[in-house]
Amino acid sequence: MSDLEALRSSKIPIVWVLGGPGSGKGTQCARLVEKYGFQHLSSGDLLRDEVQSGSDKGKEINEMMVKGMLVPRQVVLDLLKQAMLKNLATAKGYLIDGYPREVEQGEDFEKDIAPCSLVLYFDCKDETMTQRLLGRAASSGRADDNEETIKKRLVTFHNCSEPVIAKYTQKVVIICADTDPDTIFGQCTASVDKVLTTCK
Ligand code: AP5
Repeated sequence: MSDLEALRSSKIPIVWVLGGPGSGKGTQCARLVEKYGFQHLSSGDLLRDEVQSGSDKGKEINEMMVKGMLVPRQVVLDLLKQAMLKNLATAKGYLIDGYPREVEQGEDFEKDIAPCSLVLYFDCKDETMTQRLLGRAASSGRADDNEETIKKRLVTFHNCSEPVIAKYTQKVVIICADTDPDTIFGQCTASVDKVLTTCK
């Protein structure tokens, strides 16, 4: 049996974690990893690793990220698939953070990898997200944490990513992400606990 077949036939939960830039996806994923021992795979981190490698592909990716644009679908899907299979032997669950960012990405993922079990959608006001990212800018070292790119990231999010929520309504749980981290974490764990019961 190939690794991909093993992944598909396993009952390992796959959770997509979606929300606008600065909605708190990464923050909550770190806490969920601590509680459940899931693998956290952030599409943004995987892309930044590729940029750091200094490869030609990384240079092209960086140009798109600085403009707040989406990186081509196949690039992101390949990085995610590779990372999921690498961790398959020890995975108790996957948190796929920042993916899918457009409807076609979701379709590709479920066709090429496996169906997702749950979609956590971090619903947050634009002003809140902007303030958080500007607050982080001083220490993040991220080329896209500046006012101009944040505006573009928000436009891309509203245009491309919101339709994903509409498509997966049956799997989506809306998390009110405008509040404090503990309250948000409580909402996330309630949903993950339910999924773990059904995946057993
Ligand atoms: P990515 O790295 O995924 O960035 P993002 O989605 O814009 O979101 P962030 O990681 O900046 O924020 P977050 O929601 O994780 O919030 P965090 O917890 O860090 O993507 C970057 C780029 O890569 C994209 O623009 C695109 O170009 C490309 N890309 C990525 N995925 C792609 C894909 N699938 N397809 C194509 N291209 C893709 O928190 C932010 C700040 O807020 C922190 O300082 C934190 O401490 C603070 N904070 C968090 N929660 C709270 C709270 N409850 N209260 C107060 N402060 C809080």
